[in-house]
Amino acid sequence: MKALILSGGKAKRLRPITYTSAKQLLPVANKPILFYGIEAIRDAGITNIGIIVGDTREEVMAATGDGSRWGVQITYIHQDAPLGLAHAVAIAGDFLGDSSFVMYLGDNLIEGGVAGFVEEFKREKPAAEILLKQVSNPRDFGVALLNPDGTIAALEEKPAEPKSNLALVGVYLFTPEIHASIARIKPSARGELEITDAIQDLIDRGERVLSHELSGWWLDTGKKDDILEANRTVLDTVPRLIGGTMDAASQAVGRVQIGEGTVLTNTTVRGPVVIGRNCRISNAFIGPYSSIANNVTLENVEMEHSIILDNTTVRNLDGRMADSLIARDVHLTRVDSRPRVYRFTLGDDSRIELI
Ligand code: DAU
Repeated sequence: MKALILSGGKAKRLRPITYTSAKQLLPVANKPILFYGIEAIRDAGITNIGIIVGDTREEVMAATGDGSRWGVQITYIHQDAPLGLAHAVAIAGDFLGDSSFVMYLGDNLIEGGVAGFVEEFKREKPAAEILLKQVSNPRDFGVALLNPDGTIAALEEKPAEPKSNLALVGVYLFTPEIHASIARIKPSARGELEITDAIQDLIDRGERVLSHELSGWWLDTGKKDDILEANRTVLDTVPRLIGGTMDAASQAVGRVQIGEGTVLTNTTVRGPVVIGRNCRISNAFIGPYSSIANNVTLENVEMEHSIILDNTTVRNLDGRMADSLIARDVHLTRVDSRPRVYRFTLGDDSRIELI
């Protein structure tokens, strides 16, 4: 069995961060989202992984490498434009050959990995297996309508009027039978070859498609608040691990990870929190559900429920920062010099909320 991870596409809802960064590399608890998928696949015993990459391919390839660090072998497949999930499968034809495969959307996180579903798929031998989860906003997803006996009646991609609240999770299991269905479908109204339509075609052709309702959490990290929710969910599971150094006036309470080379001065960290390597943090309160990457400087700052990426500096904030996602190399400070003015250098699509 092989795996195909989709890490191409354009992430408009995560601008401006995704102008310069692949959304699949945004960190959750200081680890790129994509790496959770690779680990889930490796833990299911699959070592031959293809990764679909698009405009951000150089960054994805540089961060991920050949897979040897996970004991897997990664083949990169370049998709010229994000023409749909089924298009991604079609262009991976040479890599997939006549293998069955797991398709994993590189911006999805699911609790408990995929090993159980791979086992079920091998045991039951359907043509395809999909995972479903009840959601409150089914319009934002592929949606399944089930028959009373639990078989799938119909699938629809982002319906205006959903017939159920069962969303398709971004993990699918396929036999090579899917290729014939992909060859039969046409682009949707949004111009994409939809995998949802290809699975519907399998069903219409009388092939057996299993569905499995996920009991654990599932997060699709499409927007800032989704990333913060994923961060919150994963931080609740990190073990305490204190590297670095802190002075007598500092304390780290609860689930807290602090990386090597990080120095805390007169600072309270209240977990769950992860702080990376070589950070300088002084006169600060780092509250629950914060992830701070490497080489970050924080001075006279109170924060909680936020993510800060590498090499950023935040100084002298008046109020407490919360619900924020701050990219790399950002400089955010309050100055006391006159005139007392706001001074901004912001990228396109930046969002600032001031008090
Ligand atoms: O997250 C689950 C949902 O994922 C499902 O419920 C939907 O049925 C499915 O269509 C998909 O919807 P999204 O709108 O969330 O898909 P998105 O465009 O965000 O793409 C998902 C991942 O696949 C993302 O990591 C980017 C990558 N991708 C996407 C497209 C369209 C590619 O690599 N190539 C592509 O052509």
